[in-house]
Order: sequence, then structure tokens, then C-alpha cells
Amino acid sequence: MSTKKYWGINMAKVLVYGSGGRDHCLADKYGDSRHVDKVYFMPGNPGVLYTPKGKRGLIELVNLADPNDFNQVAGFCLENKVDLVDVGSENPLSSGLIDVLNHHDIPTVGPRQEYTKLESDRSFTNFLLRSIGVGKPEHKVFFDPGDARKYVKNIGYQVVVKANGLAAGKGAIVCNDVEDALCAIEDIMVKKVFGKSGDRVVIEERKFGTEISFFAYLDGKHVLPLKMFCQDYKQAFDDHDQESIQNFGGNLNTGGTGCYCPHKLVSDSLVNRIIREIVNPTVNVIYNDYGWNYKGVVYFGLNLDPDNQLEVFEINVRHGDPEFEVLARKFSTDFFELGMAVWEGKLDQIKQVWNQQYYVDVIAMEGRSKASRGWNPGYPKRYGKGHQILGLDDLDKGIAIYFAGVDISEDKGLVTWGGRVLHLIAGDETLEKAREKAYHNIRKITFVDHKMDGANCMRFRTGIGM
Ligand code: GLY
Repeated sequence: MSTKKYWGINMAKVLVYGSGGRDHCLADKYGDSRHVDKVYFMPGNPGVLYTPKGKRGLIELVNLADPNDFNQVAGFCLENKVDLVDVGSENPLSSGLIDVLNHHDIPTVGPRQEYTKLESDRSFTNFLLRSIGVGKPEHKVFFDPGDARKYVKNIGYQVVVKANGLAAGKGAIVCNDVEDALCAIEDIMVKKVFGKSGDRVVIEERKFGTEISFFAYLDGKHVLPLKMFCQDYKQAFDDHDQESIQNFGGNLNTGGTGCYCPHKLVSDSLVNRIIREIVNPTVNVIYNDYGWNYKGVVYFGLNLDPDNQLEVFEINVRHGDPEFEVLARKFSTDFFELGMAVWEGKLDQIKQVWNQQYYVDVIAMEGRSKASRGWNPGYPKRYGKGHQILGLDDLDKGIAIYFAGVDISEDKGLVTWGGRVLHLIAGDETLEKAREKAYHNIRKITFVDHKMDGANCMRFRTGIGM
């Protein structure tokens, strides 16, 4: 590994491991750093080739024979003198990518495999939070669907049914009544819609109030809680869109459909309170009781209820998606300096710089499209693929696009390839102006449904930031 000083004349090389919108955004942030002249993106997202940084080779896609072979990843880093690797999502983290890279002395941002149980084992984290008196909704763990069914029939209040393990941010099903809860138990524990993550469920009291996604960086010694937070919109449709909700039916839970920042509740006093009541006690356990040398981000999924009580829904070991995409637009601290500080245990030397803009991220999703037979209802249910994406060249200056589910086809160019296709982020001096700009621009984009005479099969929520 090179011993370059990152503030010196030599420029640094970073590898971002991942392929979604959050990972594209990470690559973009490292590309903005004054210290970085190359960001490798592995396995990467082909959409990046349609962006200015991709076109000029600052962000470069890396095709490894097998990107899931972590020794191959390490080999690439050593061969190309990569100075820092940032791992964006929970799956490679919980499969031990950081451990393999560190074994080869490659500097990284992200927790070791053992520490990812904070996210991959809700029972473990619930126990941790209870043990330090951090607020957590009433909950119970079940291994047997019969016991879980009996519980929800008797409990009398609304619940959220959660797969115990990883589920790409979609594993919590919010239930209005016993019927919903029984369906959720069936889906998670019997049909295994989230695979083995559903071997165990946590059934938690449903909470009302305002959700807050709060992030803190850890370097093994210090904690840097971000003094800014935002809110994710998890449901597929806006509440006012009852017609679509009725027509769509079933589980409307998604991995996130949009986000805005700053959250309407951001204030110095609430940030201080979150740090004092939630972040510091948790980090204290991580460092002092468990002795973990945790280097990476911790994501606290919180709820502030109408009685002003703060509770923790979940803890994750990576940035939230789409929360990171929108926070990153507002966060002006040099990302390579931040990443190196995480690795070197120097977070106490990092200054947070936030610009004064408001940002709105609207996610363009695959909507209803013609299937070979009948119709695809659209994300988060079955969705079509391969729809040509048009309109990106017509967007106003200053609009940021981060790609998620896309691919490149020989005849059509950039096409849709996932349920959540791209993030469109607009910033302005007020939230209203940022919203207007985001919605004005997203309406310029078309996902061409060739089977329906070129109709637009893109869908997006219209109420982000309201
Ligand atoms: N936005 C929710 C998540 O990243 O899990």
C-alpha cells in the first residue's frame, strides 16, 4: 500500500464497492475530493458512464471476473495501489469484505463482519438498546409462525412485523390490523420473501410520529455524529393517492421512494438530544463493553412520537438509501479526508461543513408496464425491465442524478433494470423551490414502454418534502 500523504502533491485512488444509488453517490463524493484523481467503482453501475465524472474517467467501472471473491478484490486494490476502500452496503459488509481487505493491510471504511450483527440481528441490537435503557418500542421475538400468529391475535394493538435479518431495507411490514399482521407473518416466515432472514421475526408495537434517520461516523476511538438529518419515504404511494393504493393492494413497503433535507425537525437542541440519549450510550457500549474497533458509519433509525419520546426502530451499519444521496448534496466536508480520518482514528480532526441549500430526492421507479402476458404492476411488486430511459440530457443545470437499477443495451442505450431506477436530486434556497425544481425535472424523464406505443412507465411519489 502506498504511503502517500493525502494532503501532499500525490493524488489518491479510492475504490467504492457497490452498485446502487448510494454507492454511485459515494463514488461521486470521493470524486469531488481535492485529493482524489481516480475512483474505481466495483462492480459499479453502468449509469455512471452517462455522467460527467464517468465520461472523463474520474469514476471508472471495474469488471472483475468475480467481484464476490474478496481475495480478487484485494488483489485489484494492491495491484492498482488503491489508498482507501469504502463499502457502501450491508451484504458485502456482513459477508466479511472489510476483514479480507484489512488482512491485506488495505485501508477501509466500513465495519468488520462481526460488528454487522448490529444490523443483521435485530434481536441482538434490541437487547443492546434495552440493556442501556435506550428507548425501544415494546417487542417480542418469534421462531415459530404459529406462536407469532397467536401473539398478534391477542395483543390488541397495531404492530410492525420485522424479518430478523437483512432485507435490503424492506424487512419491516407496518400493519393496520390483525389481518395485515397475519399476512406479514405468512410472507416473512412461511413464504420466506426475505429468505433466511425470515427464520425469526421481531414483532414490535407500531409507533406513530415522525421518523428520523440519523448518522454517526466511528473510527474506533471517536464518534462524529452528523449535525443534520433527513427523512425517508418508505411507502410506494403517497397517502393522498388512495386510488393507486387500492388498485395496487398488498404490501406497499419499499426500500425508500424519496427523501428531503434538512428534516423539518432539525434543530441544535434535537440533535444534541439524539446524541446524548441515543448515540453516545450506544457508542459507549460498542467501544467500551464490546471492545469493538468499529470504523464506519452507524445509522440510527429513530422515531419521535407525539409525546416527544425518542425511540430506536433499528440500527444499520451503513448509510441509509436514499438518505445518504440527499445528505451528501448538503455535506461539503471533503469526503476523502473524512474516510481517511475514519481509518486512521482521527475523526476528532474533522470539521462538518454544511451548505445552506434545501434538497429533495425523488426516486424514479418502474411503474405499471406491459408484460408479455398481461401487466407488470410495478415496484415493489413485479416490474418490467429494459425500458429505454429518455430525457436525461434535458435536465436543468445543477440537478444531480444517481443511478440504481439501470443497464446499457446495445440498441436502446441506457435502460431500466431494477424497481428503483434513479434518484433525481434538486437543491435550492427553500424547500418549496427545491421541490418544484425536482418535480419539474423528473417530469422530463421517460421510461419508454415499447409494448405500449412508447407510453411512459415511470412512477414517482408526488409528495416528497410535503
Ligand atoms: N432508507 C432505509 C434504509 O436504507 O434502510
